[in-house]
Amino acid sequence: MSHVEIDLKSAGAARAYDLMSNLIVPRPIAFVSTISASGHANLAPFSYFMIGGPNPPSLAFCPTLGGGGTPKDTLRNLEETGEFVVNLVTRSMADGMNQTSAPYPHDFDEWEVSGFTQVSSSHVRPARVAESPLSCECRVFQIVSHGEGAGASRYVIGEILAMHVAENLLSGEEIGRIEPIARLGGPDYIDLADGSRFALQRPKA
Ligand SMILES: Cc1cc2nc3c(=O)[nH]c(=O)nc-3n(C[C@H](O)[C@H](O)[C@H](O)COP(=O)(O)O)c2cc1C
Repeated sequence: MSHVEIDLKSAGAARAYDLMSNLIVPRPIAFVSTISASGHANLAPFSYFMIGGPNPPSLAFCPTLGGGGTPKDTLRNLEETGEFVVNLVTRSMADGMNQTSAPYPHDFDEWEVSGFTQVSSSHVRPARVAESPLSCECRVFQIVSHGEGAGASRYVIGEILAMHVAENLLSGEEIGRIEPIARLGGPDYIDLADGSRFALQRPKA
């Protein structure tokens, strides 16, 4: 196989974004529930998301800085409170999840446009999404900054305190097959239930 080498530093951030988000796929989606210190609930999806090691159980996701280097609401809330819930997203949840990704004002409650049902968490203040087959209650371990300005990374590393797993996934001897959607390049997603692909345009606030 022959390859083209691209120097990402000179390519610039916009090109780097296109290359990374179109080529490093599929990415699972962390649908993150937080609450600000003043009590405003927030829901938003993040596909720069991975699990960490199991001891202690951890995960990480990356809310990049927005235009002008401003932190997204999820990051602001986590800097204030340190508590969040990561919910996985299935095909039937895709439209509601996408609705929450518009750039709403800081005190806007995205649960209202999502259509999802809140369930109280056991260990943290933010609610979990009842419709999700897996929710992880988390506490921030560390937020790591890499870069400044629009597109710079803020890695939120969280310790998973508790998991809420759909009963049908735990009914047999082995853990059942979960079927979330995952992010591809551009507007595209893949549904792991049947391997089909679909596209969603991002909504405006
Ligand atoms: C499927 C999907 C995945 C996304 N992944 C990320 C991501 O990993 N990092 C990020 O900064 N924004 C990501 N976004 C955009 C954020 O969801 C969007 O900026 C949102 O408004 C942030 O909400 P907040 O300001 O309430 O935290 C994604 C959007 C969608 C629809």
